[in-house]
Amino acid sequence: MFELPAGSLPRNDAARRFWSERTWSEFAAVPAVSQVVLALVREGAPLDTLGAYTSIADDEVRHALLSRELAQKLGGYVDEIPEGLAYAPRGLATPSDVPVHVWALANGCFSETVSLSLIRARHAETKHPVVRAVLAETLKDEAVHVRVAWELAEGLLPTLDADTKTDLRGYGADLAEMLRRTFGTQGLPPALSRSERKLRDRTAEAGLGALTAQAENAVVDRALEDIDERLKSLLD
Ligand SMILES: [Fe+2]
Ligand SMILES: [Fe+2]
Repeated sequence: MFELPAGSLPRNDAARRFWSERTWSEFAAVPAVSQVVLALVREGAPLDTLGAYTSIADDEVRHALLSRELAQKLGGYVDEIPEGLAYAPRGLATPSDVPVHVWALANGCFSETVSLSLIRARHAETKHPVVRAVLAETLKDEAVHVRVAWELAEGLLPTLDADTKTDLRGYGADLAEMLRRTFGTQGLPPALSRSERKLRDRTAEAGLGALTAQAENAVVDRALEDIDERLKSLLD
């Protein structure tokens, strides 16, 4: 189990809030991945595919713990998710009969790919050794998650009928907007958008793990373009 390296962290209100958000995001990945696991079981997937996904769930728990510890040391983890932000770890845990290709698209192709791009960009810019170590640890895992997710998508999506593929393309467009609001700060109500942008800008200024809001949004947009391109050949 990776532990937070020793080293002092400054107290920083924006950074503690930013890392609290990172915690909610990683925490939400746990039920999302678990939904993939349950859908895989319902649909008769092989055990090694199940194993790959259960170890992703384990990683996401570790990422949530590391993020929460960072938030704690930066001045205190915030437990309450502000009204209007779409992190929904509990909602994602609701029993579901949604098929595996939908969960695989949402969690695998979209969330994991955007997450990897952002963490890679943050890691490249972050100097603080403790924060950098957490980003490096997360980055290593997310690269595996992205590979596992796309392997599953590449096996599943081309086998779907034409109507299901059309529905999934529409769903993909909704997912992209949702990720712009959660991983990025685009499309939020104005007051929330201002406070969320400020959070990232101030954390970036202090070198504590975020890029500026503008830079993060650009990374999200670029990742979504790549996903779109990659999905075209699987869903046409
Ligand atoms: Fe993660
Ligand atoms: Fe992940």
